[in-house]
Amino acid sequence: MSQMEDKIRVMLSEEELDRRIRELGAQISADYEGESIFLVCILKGAAMFACELAKRITVPVVMDFMATSSYGAGTVSTGEVKVKKDLDLSPEGKNVLIVEDIIDSGNTLNFLSRFFKERNAKSVRMATMLDKPDRREVDVDVDYTGFTIPDEFVVGFGLDYDQRYRNLPYIGVVEPAEKQ
Ligand code: IMP
Ligand code: MG
Repeated sequence: MSQMEDKIRVMLSEEELDRRIRELGAQISADYEGESIFLVCILKGAAMFACELAKRITVPVVMDFMATSSYGAGTVSTGEVKVKKDLDLSPEGKNVLIVEDIIDSGNTLNFLSRFFKERNAKSVRMATMLDKPDRREVDVDVDYTGFTIPDEFVVGFGLDYDQRYRNLPYIGVVEPAEKQ
């Protein structure tokens, strides 16, 4: 099955995403007035959102990138998170803004929040493009949310299904082949 053949139902259009990211950028710029931001993009899913968001922030921004992975035994997630790629720069004394693609169980952001506090960040805030509250296992205090969505597996705008579809300019749901 190729990407060309899969049917994707659009959930959030390119225009809706762009409009919302501009709003978040303006809100973040106002909240951090007089400060600078150490923006941490969580690879790979948040790459597109982080870049678009960074473009709309008007206070000084330093960008860094890290990658995490969830540990899971078989189908049961242990909730354990591992750092696959660490930061290049030190977050010590910085206003860290963690930028994620989607908050699902909450395990990743819960881990990252503790990770940056342990590394003596001056402040830690979180921005997520999407929130799927139905699937939450741990409570996480997210400061900036793009869209709250129902419990459906979404792709596009950085999000993948088996590493595909990250390049789509919108967020959509892959329709199973038998439904087409
Ligand atoms: P959690 O909040 O720790 O469960 O993990 C969130 C991570 O799971 C995200 O960073 C994504 O990589 C992945 N994820 C969760 N839901 C989806 C989805 O609908 N599409 C693609 N990736 C997802
Ligand atoms: Mg991710």
